[in-house]
Amino acid sequence: MSGTYVVRTFGCQMNEHDSERIAGLLEADGLEAGDDVETADVIVLNTCCIRENADNRLYGTLGHLKSLKDRRPGVEIVVAGCLAQKDQDAIAERAPHVDVVMGTHNVHRAVDLLHERRASGRPVVEILSETVAEDHELFPSALPVVRQVGYAGWVTIQMGCDNSCAFCIVPAVRGPEISRPFGDIVAEVQRAAADGVTEVTLLGQNVNSYGRDLTLRVRGDGGGVTESAFLVGPAAAEERVKVRPLFAELLRAVGSVPGIRRVRYTSPHPKDLRPETIAAMADEASVCEHLHLPLQSGSDSILSAMHRGYTATRYLERLAAARAGIDDLAVTTDIIVGFPGETDADAEATLEVAAEARFDGAFTFVYSPRPGTEAAELVERYVPRDVAAARMERLRAVVERSSRLGNLARVGRSEEVLVEGPSRKDPSRLTGRTRQNRLVHFEPAGAVRPGSYVAVEVTDATTTHLRGHMTELLVAPTHRVRIPVAAE
Ligand code: 5AD
Ligand code: SF4
Repeated sequence: MSGTYVVRTFGCQMNEHDSERIAGLLEADGLEAGDDVETADVIVLNTCCIRENADNRLYGTLGHLKSLKDRRPGVEIVVAGCLAQKDQDAIAERAPHVDVVMGTHNVHRAVDLLHERRASGRPVVEILSETVAEDHELFPSALPVVRQVGYAGWVTIQMGCDNSCAFCIVPAVRGPEISRPFGDIVAEVQRAAADGVTEVTLLGQNVNSYGRDLTLRVRGDGGGVTESAFLVGPAAAEERVKVRPLFAELLRAVGSVPGIRRVRYTSPHPKDLRPETIAAMADEASVCEHLHLPLQSGSDSILSAMHRGYTATRYLERLAAARAGIDDLAVTTDIIVGFPGETDADAEATLEVAAEARFDGAFTFVYSPRPGTEAAELVERYVPRDVAAARMERLRAVVERSSRLGNLARVGRSEEVLVEGPSRKDPSRLTGRTRQNRLVHFEPAGAVRPGSYVAVEVTDATTTHLRGHMTELLVAPTHRVRIPVAAE
């Protein structure tokens, strides 16, 4: 193929990561990255369906692309990702100008499907119902990549989710949990480090249950695969028959890859937060002092209706254990307001737990019914919009108070900052993140490239960010400015 492509990503980091792989495949097939939808030859929309506004945004964008396609019939439109998985044929029906609809399990097929579309002259819809567990080539991370930035990378360690949170559509669109083999992940991180990547984020819907299916498989029929394919180090001999996650071992292995300075991961489940993981975070210097631990609600009855598998007390205990075990830990969370049946007392309980947890940041969402999920059936218990909006406002005030205090506590300290680039508001300043994932805007000292690690003296803080000035360059970046596509 020749021409240019644009990939627009909606939703979470898992989608961002899939988009990088789709871009890698398109470039391997001869397309070049463009930055303008108006002139691109191939437009990929990588979609999200976790909340209803994501649906609305996609159909709005498709409406806009319809007029583009009327003007330039040669442009090819691909809809990929979670919404494609959920709506399947509905997209082709509602938007017949779409050329390819592909689901979450066929990222690797992006180019083939475009070729099929051209050969057949008809729109192509391909939605696989699930990933073939043994075919690890299909893991998005095993595909060619065009990283958005050269110094940081995402690594998918697990796909899908075996939980059944009553509000969540992820298990329906991403399928059951499948862990990627341990050795493949470590090898990918080694390759990324050789390319100059210094920060990796391990991605999964339920990252800290990573490996549960692998140990199960080894214990079950062996599957013709030796345990050494999945386990490394001293764990290999004794863990063979145990059924438990391998996330802590993975953190240690990835964290000790030479060149990797920072390891992050998202998102863990509170019920699976094990002492081994806390110990690995404490011991492994490269694992960042940041835990994103989704609370969802502070009310036990709502947590139970959500099928979250913990109580508020249990959550707070786990959090206390993490804070006790890991020095200088920052904690962020996700909270849903207005889950069906949520009473004033339930909402109050969430405020109390949030205050007690002293979150450094929170993504707060108004409950959004997702067709096919258990909670969406509870129509008669839906919380009126205005009630949910008022609860949200109070929750935000609580979270903002602790975020501001958390940021203010950094004033006067020197922080290691990974530089992202010029600040959008004030290009004379640079922006970056601390190990705790706090956003920092600072005055540089001399020319500093994105991907550098610098020391910043923090002089001021707001609810959302820190401000300061750079005192020293700690590590210069080694990545190439644009990583060429490399088929692995
Ligand atoms: N409504 C509102 N928020 C939701 N989330 C997931 N599903 C829904 C929904 N139906 C939130 C959860 C999750 C985050 C990624 O999105 O808080 O942790
Ligand atoms: Fe959804 Fe719950 Fe799985 Fe997270 S753990 S992806 S919220 S079902």
